[in-house]
Amino acid sequence: MSKVDVLLGLQWGDEGKGKIVDVLTPNYDVIARFQGGPNAGHTLEFNGIKHVLHIIPSGIFHKEKINVIGNGVLIEPAIFKDEIEALRQKSVEPTENLYISKKAHLILPSHRLLDAANEQAKGNAKIGSTLKGIGPAYTDKIARTGIRVGDVLEFDFREKYQLLKFQHLQMAKTLNFNVEEFRIGSMTLDEYEVKWMDSLETLRKFKLINSEYFINKCLKDGKRVLAEGAQGSMLDIDFGSYPFVTSSSTITAGVCSGLGVAPSAIGKVMGITKAYCTRVGAGPFPTELFDATGRTLCELGHEFGATTGRARRCGWIDMPALRYACMLNGVTDLIVTKPDVMNDFEEVKMCTHYIINDQKTDEIPFEFNEVEIKPFLESYPGWQQSLNNTENYDKLPANLLAYLSAIESNTGVRIMAVSISPDRKDVLFRK
Ligand code: GDP
Ligand code: IMO
Ligand code: MG
Repeated sequence: MSKVDVLLGLQWGDEGKGKIVDVLTPNYDVIARFQGGPNAGHTLEFNGIKHVLHIIPSGIFHKEKINVIGNGVLIEPAIFKDEIEALRQKSVEPTENLYISKKAHLILPSHRLLDAANEQAKGNAKIGSTLKGIGPAYTDKIARTGIRVGDVLEFDFREKYQLLKFQHLQMAKTLNFNVEEFRIGSMTLDEYEVKWMDSLETLRKFKLINSEYFINKCLKDGKRVLAEGAQGSMLDIDFGSYPFVTSSSTITAGVCSGLGVAPSAIGKVMGITKAYCTRVGAGPFPTELFDATGRTLCELGHEFGATTGRARRCGWIDMPALRYACMLNGVTDLIVTKPDVMNDFEEVKMCTHYIINDQKTDEIPFEFNEVEIKPFLESYPGWQQSLNNTENYDKLPANLLAYLSAIESNTGVRIMAVSISPDRKDVLFRK
């Protein structure tokens, strides 16, 4: 019996999960997404190609590996079809090695409408949603009114669809949302619905399975399974900076419900953090930098959303948040990405504690969104050299090694690898 290893983000998303999953895929037989949906944007780079995945697991470029979209994921069929076509343009044909859970829920065009209506109704308290329909679709799942992938094979699918759409339109009306003016891209809701319905044909051509049986059989047969997280722990529905969160369980616990595996079947938990911190969308960010350093991180780190293109907010690494994420996830191994972005920095800072009402604390407060939080910063000398062509982990500059070692002592977790460029080849694994 083998176990499911997990790889997930420890911050507010965009830690480099896609890249690392792609790099780890040769060590696994199956790569499975367990939550989230098209709000995710996972970037992979190799051989001069850059590719962004949203719903499809990041193992898809290895054609001999099975990729699974688990029951905990949300699928928007039109986005899914576009993603499949983009892969085909890169000569990747995923029909044979991409399996989809029949229990995964569908995002309808009217879920996207409701996402926009909810955001508009929030006024200044907007979450900054990616507007892919995530919140409304998970709402229907929990309310037991959702439509699942397996339903597209049923004779009464259209009926279910129309009923749910009708309810959504009623809700949009209650929120005073102008449905006529709503657009997805340049399409009206009706136009987009045609595209969405057409794309169901693409979805039906895939292996639609009971993925919980498949994954558990793989484990029984000794196959190696890697669960790929989306978003990050600080966006988790329970433990993130609520309500500025996404609507799924982004932590290790989500793997159990999102794939149908027992807690005892969880193996290694690899947590990813950037060497600094970013956040896209609204909500608290104690170490955010509003100065030239913040702008430099954004520019040099190309910190623009892979899904929405929005500029990401940037700041120093946040240890209270990272320790919290390590605790919630049971992280066994850390992976640090993007230290290369700070190569020219004279000094690099790390928030080790928060100061709230003149008290030093290392707990994330319940009133995370309301209280004023001052980060207590420690300074580390920069390494001020390029990391290109570094042969192995131990050959990293001494000042960077000291900074990494401070991350380890602050979290109590060993770093297993450091990524030093967007490219697949640039990951230094520690012996
Ligand atoms: P994900 O959502 O966690 O998969 O991360 P994203 O793809 O949204 O954002 C990470 C960005 O950083 C992408 O543009 C990657 O190509 C890039 N990236 C990943 N690792 C590194 C690294 O070590 N150094 C640099 N400079 N860029 C990286
Ligand atoms: P990956 O997998 C970064 C953020 C949004 C918004 C909040 C809620 O690429 O790391 P939603 O669309 O889920 O209703 O948005 O969560 N968000 C992400 N931020 N990376 C992501 O995914 C994100 N997915 C959602 O910006 O603040
Ligand atoms: Mg991303």
